[in-house]
Amino acid sequence: MVITSNSQNFQELCAQAGKKIYFVPTMGALHRGHTALMKEARRLAGSEGTVAVSIFVNPLQFDRSEDLDSYPHSKEKDLQACETAGVDIVFIPLAEQFYEPNHSIEIRETSLSKRLCGASRPGHFNGVCAVVLKLFMLASPQAALFGKKDFQQLAIIRRLARDLSLPTTIIGHDTVREDNGLALSSRNALLTEEEKKDAARLYRALQKAKSNALKGTAAHLVLKQTKEAIESSSYKVKIDYLELVNQETLEKVDSFSAPSLLALAVFYGDKVRLIDSMEIPSQK
Ligand code: PAJ
Repeated sequence: MVITSNSQNFQELCAQAGKKIYFVPTMGALHRGHTALMKEARRLAGSEGTVAVSIFVNPLQFDRSEDLDSYPHSKEKDLQACETAGVDIVFIPLAEQFYEPNHSIEIRETSLSKRLCGASRPGHFNGVCAVVLKLFMLASPQAALFGKKDFQQLAIIRRLARDLSLPTTIIGHDTVREDNGLALSSRNALLTEEEKKDAARLYRALQKAKSNALKGTAAHLVLKQTKEAIESSSYKVKIDYLELVNQETLEKVDSFSAPSLLALAVFYGDKVRLIDSMEIPSQK
């Protein structure tokens, strides 16, 4: 495994590796959710292809500098995880070298990023688009993998690739979960064991919603039942949003007539905000 922090060097390494590059961008603090993407990239690339990973806490996507400063770092452990997952090239740049001090070009997404998580994080997804586009320009990947855990991010990256005709195939990977169904996230470490057990209700509520939708229950009832299932927790939970949206446009919908996504963000206690979602196929 080759490790570099230099953009030009990363670009050269990827160019030398040839065309079949499978790329997984991350911000580090890696867990099984991230390594599942890397292992899938390894499988798709085969022995001929190359798996590249970036580890970079992108300042452009943080609206509050405290979040940026408190983002966990675990470089040695992360590199070990990459090695074990069969990664060939790791790019781990420094922010002050990655972005020119007077960089002045911005990317702006004007629709999907206004909804769901984007509604409370203005500018966040523009920062994600900017870093992903720049990383793609360095790696020139044939394909890049993103988790459905962050479904809105995946939808926006798909839009970025579509609207700018990027020659990279965007692959969505299923959410990796704890045995009890809780979606893996570095934020889970901030929950107590008991809260973690209770938080599995989010996934159970989403599963139930899907099965009710498939049985023909109306969308407004499915939403009501899901809300009740979440709020019946004996912990302090607060729903930030619970919405049924179109899978591609992320616009709100009130029926299951097109492929939809039931998406939620829920606060456990005052600080920990968990997100999860469930794809629901169209019901004709
Ligand atoms: P990060 O939060 O480190 O996530 C990197 C990738 O891992 C994303 O595609 C995310 O969706 C995926 N991921 C995280 N938890 C997962 C889980 N439980 N199951 C499946 N996939 C999971 O997302 C980012 O970084 C950044 O915004 C980035 C795209 C790297 C741009 O800076």
